[in-house]
Amino acid sequence: MPCMAMEEIEKRLLSELENLCKPSRQAHCRFVAETAEFLARRFSVDSFAARVAGLGHDLMKDRDIGYQWELARSAALHPEMEAVTAVVATMESEKAFADKIIHGPAAAVYLRESLGIDDKAILMAVSLHSQAALGMDKLSAIIFAADKMEPTRAYAGIREAEALRDDSLETLLRKALGLSIKWLNAKGYGIAQSSIDLYNALTMDKASE
Ligand SMILES: [Fe+2]
Ligand SMILES: [Fe+2]
Repeated sequence: MPCMAMEEIEKRLLSELENLCKPSRQAHCRFVAETAEFLARRFSVDSFAARVAGLGHDLMKDRDIGYQWELARSAALHPEMEAVTAVVATMESEKAFADKIIHGPAAAVYLRESLGIDDKAILMAVSLHSQAALGMDKLSAIIFAADKMEPTRAYAGIREAEALRDDSLETLLRKALGLSIKWLNAKGYGIAQSSIDLYNALTMDKASE
Protein backbone atom coordinates (compact mmCIF):
# COMPACT_ATOMS: atom_id res chain seq x y z
CA MET A 1 0.00 0.00 0.00
CA PRO A 2 1.55 3.40 -0.96
CA CYS A 3 2.31 5.84 1.85
CA MET A 4 -0.20 8.49 0.78
CA ALA A 5 -2.98 5.95 0.59
CA MET A 6 -2.13 4.85 4.14
CA GLU A 7 -2.20 8.45 5.42
CA GLU A 8 -5.48 9.12 3.66
CA ILE A 9 -7.09 5.95 5.03
CA GLU A 10 -6.01 6.79 8.57
CA LYS A 11 -7.27 10.38 8.27
CA ARG A 12 -10.66 9.24 7.01
CA LEU A 13 -10.95 6.52 9.63
CA LEU A 14 -10.25 8.99 12.45
CA SER A 15 -12.83 11.37 11.09
CA GLU A 16 -15.45 8.58 10.70
CA LEU A 17 -14.71 7.53 14.27
CA GLU A 18 -15.42 11.06 15.50
CA ASN A 19 -18.62 11.33 13.46
CA LEU A 20 -20.09 7.92 14.22
CA CYS A 21 -19.04 6.98 17.76
CA LYS A 22 -19.54 8.38 21.23
CA PRO A 23 -16.38 9.74 22.91
CA SER A 24 -15.79 6.74 25.17
CA ARG A 25 -15.95 4.41 22.15
CA GLN A 26 -13.57 6.64 20.19
CA ALA A 27 -11.07 6.36 23.05
CA HIS A 28 -11.54 2.56 23.23
CA CYS A 29 -10.93 2.22 19.48
CA ARG A 30 -7.77 4.31 19.67
CA PHE A 31 -6.48 2.13 22.52
CA VAL A 32 -7.37 -1.05 20.63
CA ALA A 33 -5.49 0.29 17.60
CA GLU A 34 -2.42 1.14 19.72
CA THR A 35 -2.48 -2.22 21.48
CA ALA A 36 -3.00 -4.06 18.19
CA GLU A 37 -0.08 -2.23 16.56
CA PHE A 38 2.13 -3.16 19.48
CA LEU A 39 1.12 -6.82 19.19
CA ALA A 40 1.50 -6.76 15.40
CA ARG A 41 5.13 -5.72 15.80
CA ARG A 42 5.71 -8.45 18.40
CA PHE A 43 4.19 -11.14 16.20
CA SER A 44 5.41 -9.98 12.76
CA VAL A 45 2.04 -8.92 11.37
CA ASP A 46 1.41 -5.81 9.22
CA SER A 47 1.10 -3.07 11.87
CA PHE A 48 -0.87 -0.73 9.59
CA ALA A 49 -3.47 -3.45 9.00
CA ALA A 50 -3.67 -3.86 12.79
CA ARG A 51 -4.15 -0.10 13.21
CA VAL A 52 -6.90 0.05 10.59
CA ALA A 53 -8.77 -2.93 12.06
CA GLY A 54 -8.36 -1.54 15.59
CA LEU A 55 -9.66 1.92 14.70
CA GLY A 56 -12.52 0.52 12.62
CA HIS A 57 -13.73 -2.51 14.57
CA ASP A 58 -16.50 -0.77 16.57
CA LEU A 59 -17.37 1.90 14.01
CA MET A 60 -21.01 0.73 13.69
CA LYS A 61 -21.66 -0.08 17.34
CA ASP A 62 -23.57 3.14 18.05
CA ARG A 63 -25.76 2.78 14.92
CA ASP A 64 -29.35 1.56 14.92
CA ILE A 65 -29.50 -2.25 15.22
CA GLY A 66 -31.68 -2.61 12.10
CA TYR A 67 -29.08 -0.70 10.11
CA GLN A 68 -26.28 -2.91 11.52
CA TRP A 69 -28.07 -6.05 10.29
CA GLU A 70 -28.85 -4.53 6.90
CA LEU A 71 -25.24 -3.54 6.43
CA ALA A 72 -23.89 -6.90 7.66
CA ARG A 73 -26.19 -8.84 5.31
CA SER A 74 -25.00 -6.77 2.38
CA ALA A 75 -21.59 -8.47 2.70
CA ALA A 76 -23.21 -10.99 0.34
CA LEU A 77 -23.10 -8.34 -2.41
CA HIS A 78 -19.29 -8.41 -2.36
CA PRO A 79 -17.73 -11.61 -3.73
CA GLU A 80 -14.47 -10.89 -1.89
CA MET A 81 -16.41 -10.85 1.40
CA GLU A 82 -17.49 -14.48 1.15
CA ALA A 83 -15.87 -15.31 4.51
CA VAL A 84 -17.63 -12.36 6.19
CA THR A 85 -20.95 -13.54 4.71
CA ALA A 86 -20.33 -16.93 6.34
CA VAL A 87 -19.72 -15.21 9.71
CA VAL A 88 -23.03 -13.33 9.34
CA ALA A 89 -24.78 -16.65 8.58
CA THR A 90 -23.52 -18.13 11.88
CA MET A 91 -24.79 -15.03 13.70
CA GLU A 92 -28.23 -15.42 12.11
CA SER A 93 -28.47 -18.78 13.85
CA GLU A 94 -27.42 -17.38 17.25
CA LYS A 95 -30.25 -14.89 17.58
CA ALA A 96 -30.19 -14.81 21.38
CA PHE A 97 -27.16 -12.54 21.41
CA ALA A 98 -26.41 -11.84 17.75
CA ASP A 99 -27.59 -8.23 18.14
CA LYS A 100 -24.59 -7.68 20.44
CA ILE A 101 -22.02 -8.91 17.92
CA ILE A 102 -23.41 -8.05 14.50
CA HIS A 103 -21.64 -4.66 14.65
CA GLY A 104 -18.38 -6.45 13.68
CA PRO A 105 -19.51 -7.66 10.23
CA ALA A 106 -21.44 -4.39 9.82
CA ALA A 107 -18.21 -2.44 10.37
CA ALA A 108 -16.38 -4.67 7.88
CA VAL A 109 -18.95 -3.87 5.19
CA TYR A 110 -18.80 -0.18 6.10
CA LEU A 111 -15.00 -0.19 5.76
CA ARG A 112 -15.34 -1.93 2.38
CA GLU A 113 -18.06 0.30 0.99
CA SER A 114 -17.22 3.70 2.49
CA LEU A 115 -13.45 3.59 2.72
CA GLY A 116 -12.61 1.11 -0.05
CA ILE A 117 -10.73 -1.23 2.31
CA ASP A 118 -10.60 -4.60 0.56
CA ASP A 119 -7.90 -6.40 2.56
CA LYS A 120 -9.55 -9.71 3.47
CA ALA A 121 -7.53 -10.15 6.67
CA ILE A 122 -8.63 -6.71 7.95
CA LEU A 123 -12.28 -7.34 7.05
CA MET A 124 -12.22 -10.73 8.76
CA ALA A 125 -10.49 -9.42 11.90
CA VAL A 126 -13.14 -6.70 12.22
CA SER A 127 -15.96 -9.23 11.63
CA LEU A 128 -14.68 -11.70 14.21
CA HIS A 129 -13.64 -9.30 16.97
CA SER A 130 -16.58 -10.18 19.26
CA GLN A 131 -16.72 -13.93 18.85
CA ALA A 132 -13.43 -15.31 17.46
CA ALA A 133 -13.29 -18.61 15.53
CA LEU A 134 -11.21 -21.75 15.24
CA GLY A 135 -8.48 -21.30 12.63
CA MET A 136 -8.60 -17.53 12.54
CA ASP A 137 -5.39 -15.84 11.40
CA LYS A 138 -2.84 -13.87 13.43
CA LEU A 139 -4.37 -10.46 12.68
CA SER A 140 -7.82 -11.64 13.86
CA ALA A 141 -6.26 -13.08 17.03
CA ILE A 142 -4.44 -9.79 17.67
CA ILE A 143 -7.59 -7.68 17.24
CA PHE A 144 -9.59 -10.02 19.47
CA ALA A 145 -6.96 -9.87 22.22
CA ALA A 146 -6.40 -6.10 21.86
CA ASP A 147 -10.15 -5.46 22.08
CA LYS A 148 -10.46 -7.41 25.32
CA MET A 149 -7.18 -6.36 26.95
CA GLU A 150 -6.59 -2.71 25.97
CA PRO A 151 -5.62 -0.65 29.03
CA THR A 152 -8.95 1.17 29.53
CA ARG A 153 -11.03 -2.03 29.77
CA ALA A 154 -12.68 -2.06 33.21
CA TYR A 155 -10.87 -5.22 34.33
CA ALA A 156 -7.53 -4.45 32.64
CA GLY A 157 -4.69 -4.21 35.10
CA ILE A 158 -1.08 -5.10 35.60
CA ARG A 159 -1.67 -8.77 34.66
CA GLU A 160 -3.15 -7.83 31.28
CA ALA A 161 -0.32 -5.35 30.62
CA GLU A 162 2.26 -8.04 31.40
CA ALA A 163 0.44 -10.60 29.24
CA LEU A 164 0.38 -8.20 26.28
CA ARG A 165 4.12 -7.70 26.68
CA ASP A 166 5.24 -11.26 27.43
CA ASP A 167 2.74 -13.95 26.40
CA SER A 168 2.69 -15.94 23.17
CA LEU A 169 -0.17 -15.06 20.82
CA GLU A 170 -1.91 -18.34 21.61
CA THR A 171 -1.74 -17.72 25.36
CA LEU A 172 -2.94 -14.15 24.89
CA LEU A 173 -5.86 -15.37 22.83
CA ARG A 174 -6.78 -17.93 25.49
CA LYS A 175 -6.65 -15.29 28.23
CA ALA A 176 -8.67 -12.82 26.15
CA LEU A 177 -11.31 -15.48 25.47
CA GLY A 178 -11.38 -16.37 29.17
CA LEU A 179 -11.95 -12.71 30.11
CA SER A 180 -14.65 -12.32 27.49
CA ILE A 181 -16.51 -15.52 28.45
CA LYS A 182 -16.32 -14.61 32.16
CA TRP A 183 -17.65 -11.11 31.50
CA LEU A 184 -20.51 -12.32 29.27
CA ASN A 185 -21.41 -14.97 31.81
CA ALA A 186 -21.47 -12.43 34.68
CA LYS A 187 -23.81 -10.24 32.63
CA GLY A 188 -26.05 -13.20 31.83
CA TYR A 189 -25.42 -12.93 28.07
CA GLY A 190 -25.14 -15.86 25.66
CA ILE A 191 -21.71 -16.93 24.41
CA ALA A 192 -21.02 -17.62 20.73
CA GLN A 193 -20.36 -21.30 20.01
CA SER A 194 -17.21 -20.36 18.08
CA SER A 195 -15.77 -18.62 21.20
CA ILE A 196 -16.43 -21.72 23.31
CA ASP A 197 -14.95 -24.05 20.66
CA LEU A 198 -11.78 -21.97 20.33
CA TYR A 199 -11.40 -21.59 24.11
CA ASN A 200 -11.75 -25.36 24.58
CA ALA A 201 -9.26 -26.08 21.80
CA LEU A 202 -6.68 -23.68 23.28
CA THR A 203 -7.24 -25.01 26.80
CA MET A 204 -6.80 -28.58 25.60
CA ASP A 205 -3.56 -27.56 23.85
CA LYS A 206 -2.34 -26.12 27.14
CA ALA A 207 -3.34 -29.22 29.08
CA SER A 208 -1.36 -31.45 26.72
CA GLU A 209 1.84 -29.31 26.97
FE1 LIG B 1 -17.14 -4.58 19.44
FE1 LIG C 1 -14.25 -2.97 20.90
